[in-house]
Amino acid sequence: MQESIASLAAEIAAADLSSTAHLDAFRISYLGRKGRLADLFDQLKTVPAEEKRAVGQQLNALKQQAQARFDEAQQATDSATDNTPANPDFDYTLPPVPNALGTRHPLSLVREEMMRVFARIGFAIAEGPEIEDDWHNFTALNFPENHPARDMQDTFFVAPAAGTAPDALPYLLRTHTSTVQVRVMETEPLPIRRVMPGRVFRNEAISARAHMMFHQVEGIFIDEGVSFADLKQTVYYFVQELFGADINIRFRPSFFPFTEPSAEIDITCLICKGAGCNICKYSGWVEIGGCGMVDPAVLENAKIDSDKYSGYAWGMGIERIAMLKYQIKDLRLFTENDMRFLRQFEAL
Ligand code: DAH
Repeated sequence: MQESIASLAAEIAAADLSSTAHLDAFRISYLGRKGRLADLFDQLKTVPAEEKRAVGQQLNALKQQAQARFDEAQQATDSATDNTPANPDFDYTLPPVPNALGTRHPLSLVREEMMRVFARIGFAIAEGPEIEDDWHNFTALNFPENHPARDMQDTFFVAPAAGTAPDALPYLLRTHTSTVQVRVMETEPLPIRRVMPGRVFRNEAISARAHMMFHQVEGIFIDEGVSFADLKQTVYYFVQELFGADINIRFRPSFFPFTEPSAEIDITCLICKGAGCNICKYSGWVEIGGCGMVDPAVLENAKIDSDKYSGYAWGMGIERIAMLKYQIKDLRLFTENDMRFLRQFEAL
């Protein structure tokens, strides 16, 4: 027994504890429950009673030595692999990784470009509320009482506040920016020359081609002796500034309650340059908005003398123009905030 203890003590003292693998092997073969020390403790019962005490003490001392060697070596290995101290290879003088800057939203880019183009011919910006009353959205614009656009299908009505008289006119989310025409005509001195960008809302199912929220730019010019020729010239100027001199324009007779005569504005399809493609349904033309001479009844509703004054107005969708300009095929991209889409536009 004495011999076994002595040779184990020598082995323990000489053991190589220079790596984690060595440490593991040491722990298992000497300190573990089935290790060599445990083995010797087991054999204690075969030792004659009068020697048991002394041998037991020797074994306990050896166990403590082994544990102490192990603990010390483990600490040394731990601090050697600890990489908190500075990495000498890292260059701390390198500039930091810059914060990613955003990009302009394509709708903001197009809106601002439209505003700049109209500003050059004297149109100043006006804005109005998104929650509107029936008068500014419909009645003042000459929509008959039973016009289908007033129907719940197209318009989001705002629930009346508690205590509202049952016959009060409803509030709604404006369905077009023509509301701002009315506000401007009601409040501003003549002549009036304004562009009115803004968000509009319609009760539509969201798809690649339709959305319940989109943007329009409205325009109005009211003075003495304004004619349809002035309207056409303004539209020609705008389209050529925005899309280039090789783009053609055509006016298609149409109907709006608030203009007479009314027209729809088509331009050469920018995708196929007029040759015909699936975007323009093989016609070579795409519609960008509506326009017309302000109906005398609308002028009168805003207390403007329709014998003395006349004017023209137009309304265009900003999404539609952005889609043509950047060849975007799905309206939903504008509101999804997918960075892969947004990063393609002008950086801030
Ligand atoms: N408000 C019309 C719409 O949302 C667009 C429009 C057409 C506006 C003709 C006008 C106009 O000012 O003269 O569809």
